[in-house]
Amino acid sequence: MGADTSGTSPRRSFDPEAMVKSAVRSMGRYQRQAAPDRQPDRQVRLDWNESPHGPSPKARAALAEFEHYHRYPEFDAGSLRAALGEYVGCPADQIIAGAGLDDVLNTLAMLILEPGDRVIISEPTFGVYRPLFSGHGAEVLDVPLAPGWQLDVDAILDAVNDRTKMIVICNPNNPTGNLFDPADVERVCAEAPCIVVIDEAYAEFAGVNHVPLMEKYPNVSVMRTMSKFAGLAGMRVGYGAFPASVVDYAMQVMPAFCNVGTASSAVAIASLNDLEYLQGVTDTIIADREALAARLREIPGVEPMPSATNFMLVKLPVENAGPIAAELANRGVFIRHFGRPDMGLQPYLRVSIGTTGENEIFANELEDILKGLNG
Ligand SMILES: Cc1ncc(COP(=O)(O)O)c(C=O)c1O
Repeated sequence: MGADTSGTSPRRSFDPEAMVKSAVRSMGRYQRQAAPDRQPDRQVRLDWNESPHGPSPKARAALAEFEHYHRYPEFDAGSLRAALGEYVGCPADQIIAGAGLDDVLNTLAMLILEPGDRVIISEPTFGVYRPLFSGHGAEVLDVPLAPGWQLDVDAILDAVNDRTKMIVICNPNNPTGNLFDPADVERVCAEAPCIVVIDEAYAEFAGVNHVPLMEKYPNVSVMRTMSKFAGLAGMRVGYGAFPASVVDYAMQVMPAFCNVGTASSAVAIASLNDLEYLQGVTDTIIADREALAARLREIPGVEPMPSATNFMLVKLPVENAGPIAAELANRGVFIRHFGRPDMGLQPYLRVSIGTTGENEIFANELEDILKGLNG
């Protein structure tokens, strides 16, 4: 230690690494697709499962008329929670809102996870779970999906130990796009002695609602988002229906104003008053998905997977579709590739359903790249 020349006590050195929680230092990062080698002229964004159609007319009008920028939101997000509760079929006081579904998962993690607790996920699944729960110090245990991308219920229940706080079921699952067998989902809810989160981000495309399971099983929490079907990804509004027994604690850990800004809240409520329009958009996306699947089947060796969502996995006639994803990005068409060998998705691409024109560009460019490989 250097000599004290100031007359005050010696200054110890600042070690930023020691400041950061050890769980955060060792957690993985949410993997994004690598940037393209060259800057393309066009941007066909089919990589984040967004709605290509944007928000509903009433939502656009609510934002255009909005002028409460200088006011904090309602303290308990009461109006938003009431609208979401009515929509999803759950008492408003069991709804926790957040800046996206990811944020609601974070609230649940704040509520229940202590370092060393176990969270069970089934990969391949949504890439946010692992880093998010690891960052809270949890042991994130993967019980891989069984063949056919179905839940391995026996293995999940066998993996439950005294430290298991949460099982996450993404249904329909991202990135595989399929729904799980309802009997499997219910068995996990019925037999697991911990919180079972059902992530229903894509529920509107699949026509499912797991909230009724909450009436049968006190450990179930259903999470949803306005990002996908309502075209509000940029406004960041997600929500969860929490078990009645823990929701008061959840409100306790929420920061004031419940993490949803005044404008986002107004736009979300306006969207929920425009459900007929949003149902029309959902129907269009589903029809476009099936049309894209039919077009892709015309390309030799290409196999679109069935989907209950606004995206689909597409199997290509190659061992590793990574270079094809990179070439598509060079051509300004952005989709996702999941390169981790243990996930078993190397020959696949995940493509979000865009506008009819965007889907056509994707199919044409893919066809051209594959022709180039074979020629
Ligand atoms: C399964 C799943 N859950 C949650 C989210 C995140 O939703 P939000 O935009 O509300 O944070 C996504 C987004 O892609 C998702 O695919």
